[in-house]
Amino acid sequence: MTKLDALMKRGCEFLGSEVAIMAGAMSWISERNLVSAMSNAGGFGVIACGAMPPQLLDAEIAATKAMTDRPFGVNLITMHPNLDELIDVCARYRVSHVVLAGGLPPAGSIDAIKASGAKLICFAPALSLAKKLVRSGVDALVIEGMEAGGHIGPVSTSVLAQEILPEIAPQVPVFVAGGIARGGAIAAYLEQGAAGVQIGTRLVCATECIAHPAFKKAFLRASARDAVASVQIDPRLPVIPVRALKNAGTEEFTRKQVEVAAMLDRGEIDMGEAQLAIEQFWAGALRRAVIDGDVENGSLMAGQSVGMVKGEETIAEILKTLATEAQAALETRATI
Ligand SMILES: Cc1cc2nc3c(=O)[nH]c(=O)nc-3n(C[C@H](O)[C@H](O)[C@H](O)COP(=O)(O)O)c2cc1C
Repeated sequence: MTKLDALMKRGCEFLGSEVAIMAGAMSWISERNLVSAMSNAGGFGVIACGAMPPQLLDAEIAATKAMTDRPFGVNLITMHPNLDELIDVCARYRVSHVVLAGGLPPAGSIDAIKASGAKLICFAPALSLAKKLVRSGVDALVIEGMEAGGHIGPVSTSVLAQEILPEIAPQVPVFVAGGIARGGAIAAYLEQGAAGVQIGTRLVCATECIAHPAFKKAFLRASARDAVASVQIDPRLPVIPVRALKNAGTEEFTRKQVEVAAMLDRGEIDMGEAQLAIEQFWAGALRRAVIDGDVENGSLMAGQSVGMVKGEETIAEILKTLATEAQAALETRATI
C-alpha cells in the first residue's frame, strides 16, 4: 500500500471509492455525465440538485444509476422549498450519500436522511458549527474555503483546515475543499488529518463535463486573479458572496447596485423592493453561462484554482494526475 492509499483509506471506505476525491456538486454541471464519469473513474461524483423539482431529481438519479454501478452522492440545498420530498426521492433510490449545502439543516432533515440509510455529509463554515453538526449526528463534513468557486464564506481553506481538522477529524471524516487543483495540496491536507478532498473548478473542463465550450474556454483563459468574489456596494443591500470570473455581468451588477441604492435614497422604491432587485439580478445566470454559453452576461462561477486548469482532459486523466502528484509529494517529503 502506498502512503497515499494509507492516508486516503478512511475517506475511501467512507465514500466507497478508490480515491478519496469528491467532485463537489456544481449546479447545471454535476449531472449524470460528470457524476457517473467521476464515480466510474474511481472518485466520488455528486449530483447537484440545485433548484430542481423532485421529479427532475428523480430522473437524474435514475439516469446516473444507469451509467454507473458505483456509489455517488446527491447534494441538496437546505432552503429548497421541497427539501422533504427531495429527501424522499433519494431514499427511494437508496442513494448512499446525501450532502446538505446552504446552511444548517432544518429540523427533521438529519433524521429523515439517516433513517433512509444514507450517510449524511454537511458543510461546516466554522469550528463551532462543525462541533454542533457532529453532535447532531452528521457522518462527515466538508470544509470549504473562500478560494472556492460558487457561494463562499469569508475564511480561507488553509485557516479552516488548521482550525477544524485537529478537533473534528478524530471524530468524523472531514473533506477539504476550495482552491485545490494539484496533488501536492491534496497530500498536505491529508497529512493534516483530512479524510479526503472535494474539488470543483478543476473538473469543469473535463471531457465528460457538459458545460458549453465557451464556458470551458473562459476557464482555460482565466488566471487566479480573474476569479473574484462578488462585491457589495451598499450596507443596506446585502449581496451573498459568490466567486466567479469577472465579465460584463459583474460590472453590470455593480452599476445595478448603485442605481438601486440611489432609487432607495430618493424614496422611489422601498427596502424590500430594493433588496429583491439585488437578489434577483443573478437569477438564472449560471444556467445562461453553463448551458447557453453566454459568458458575457451569465455567471461564470469559478474558484481561484482556475489558473491551473490548462486543457480539456478526461476525468480519469485528471484523477490519475492528482494521485500521482500527491504520491510524489508524499515521497519527496519523506526523504527530506
Ligand atoms: C460552477 C460552480 C457551481 C457550483 N455549484 C454548487 C452547488 O450547486 N452546490 C454546492 O454545494 N456547491 C457548489 N459549488 C461548489 C463546489 O461544489 C465545490 O465545493 C467547489 O468548487 C470546491 O472549490 P474549487 O472550485 O476551488 O475546487 C459550485 C462550484 C462551481 C465552480
